[in-house]
Amino acid sequence: MSRIGIFDSGVGGLTVHRAILDALPSADTLYLGDTARVPYGNKSAETVTQYALRNARVLARRGIDFLVVACNTASAVALPALRDELSVPVLGVVEPGARVAVRASRTGRIGVIGTQGTVSSGAYQAAIRRAREGAEVVAHACPLFVPLAEEGWTDPEDEVVRGVVHRYLAPVRDEGVDTLVLGCTHYPLLKSAIAREVPGVVLVDSAEAIAAEVRARLGEDPGHAGRAEFLVTDLPEKFLAVASRFLGRAVTAAEHVDV
Ligand code: DGL
Repeated sequence: MSRIGIFDSGVGGLTVHRAILDALPSADTLYLGDTARVPYGNKSAETVTQYALRNARVLARRGIDFLVVACNTASAVALPALRDELSVPVLGVVEPGARVAVRASRTGRIGVIGTQGTVSSGAYQAAIRRAREGAEVVAHACPLFVPLAEEGWTDPEDEVVRGVVHRYLAPVRDEGVDTLVLGCTHYPLLKSAIAREVPGVVLVDSAEAIAAEVRARLGEDPGHAGRAEFLVTDLPEKFLAVASRFLGRAVTAAEHVDV
């Protein structure tokens, strides 16, 4: 059975890990959360690329057959450098998310939300237009969604959650998109609150989109009991305090590594 390496800037990529385990329960996985350097979303493309390369080298040294870049920001800016350096296939969340959005959209008017780095890279916008010529894409950064999700403030009835979601998404709704890509690891946790703000809009979860592609490439081995291991670059305790909520399964141990 192939071992899938997955990295993210921190804990958020566990939503991608979760989608992969849902699609491929027998998968062996090695997850690295760069918790010492999170967040990536407000850093330059050059800095994020250097971080991404270091994470990938640690995973490659431990032995992986396939690399999933769970972090949308790193997927948006670092894939060419990662593919140049690694000898295993590398898949990022942007292309699968864009393809699902294009299939879902009737009007071709598609919204993307993500970190500042993801939005200003233009990666989703370009991938959507490659997949559908003439698509109109509007992209907005929603930086406060990340700390909200990490605090566990995701209840759509909560007035702070509603206020923040409304502030970011009212302009997106006004732009008349029929499909919205959740282009950040943390946003699936806010899906109910987001859905409430943009009723009738199809929400595309890039975590589910990449999980379907990983399954299509690797296939499921129902006889195999998958094994999940976790690495972090800062102290494991903080990661462990929230990891189970993001993964939807118990995470009881994580090893500290220096990248
Ligand atoms: N993992 C990042 C992403 O999906 C969000 C958190 C961060 O800014 O590092 O873009």
